[in-house]
Amino acid sequence: MTQRIAVVTGGTGGLGVAMCEAMCQQGHKVIATYYPTDETEKQAKEQQAELQKMGTEILLFPLDVADFDSCKSFVATVEAEIGPIDILVNNAGITRDAPLKRMEHQQWQDVIDTNLSSMFNMSKQVFDGMCNRGWGRIVNISSLNGEKGQFGQANYAATKAGIYGFTRSIAQEGARKGVTVNAVSPGYIDTPMVRQVPENVLESIVQGIPVGRLGRPEEIARAVAFLTAEEAGFITGTNLSVNGGQYMS
Ligand code: CAA
Repeated sequence: MTQRIAVVTGGTGGLGVAMCEAMCQQGHKVIATYYPTDETEKQAKEQQAELQKMGTEILLFPLDVADFDSCKSFVATVEAEIGPIDILVNNAGITRDAPLKRMEHQQWQDVIDTNLSSMFNMSKQVFDGMCNRGWGRIVNISSLNGEKGQFGQANYAATKAGIYGFTRSIAQEGARKGVTVNAVSPGYIDTPMVRQVPENVLESIVQGIPVGRLGRPEEIARAVAFLTAEEAGFITGTNLSVNGGQYMS
């Protein structure tokens, strides 16, 4: 098989680690980015060491995906030092939940910048190269709540819904060049982000999941690995919902 270079943004977070692991298992060289703070750097190194113990090697880079210029220089560095990026998983995302009546402008803006502008900031840097080389895979991580909306998540749901328009548009631009672009929409998965939801609220959410439990990060990683595979060249501009049946569109 061809070894590809893959970048997973937010690659040391709840879902990201499982995605990195899955793509390493596919034989790819995987680079995980993390938002740089003292705490996240420590956490990222721990994750890297943990994966290494299981025989999985990932490279780490600090990156704020909300910052266009940082994304530009990150991609330039990776391409100069490691090689051209063939697979991009736009996974980094945040929540700043509040009902609209209590949502501050900063909570709106931070989520727009990190969850939606990041799609442009990162894809823009790699898309031309993928098209010129005639092969590429971009997977954008959206959410169940981008499909159905969610009380307290007007900002987050707006960004996750926006990802579908972005995905379908650049999927059309890359289609004749061997570049596929798809979205994956996780439901409620057992990650630190979901564990922040108040216990009583989460309990009632889980009651509404037909499968009867939270999802596991590996179940999202499986969808990402499926869409980034060599054999997935005819799948583009689509959304793969992985939500235990919580929303069936
Ligand atoms: N529908 C209708 N009304 C609701 C409601 C709902 N789903 N949830 C709460 N309310 C009502 C409450 O009953 C309450 O009503 P009263 O004022 O009449 O008593 C009012 O709204 C305020 O509710 P809260 O006390 O919960 O308000 P809060 O300000 O303390 O918290 C919140 C609001 C932060 C949004 C909290 O409800 C919450 O965390 N909700 C969960 C949001 C969520 O699902 N986030 C997902 C995070 S994980 C993720 O995003 C990953 C992914 O992709 C799936």
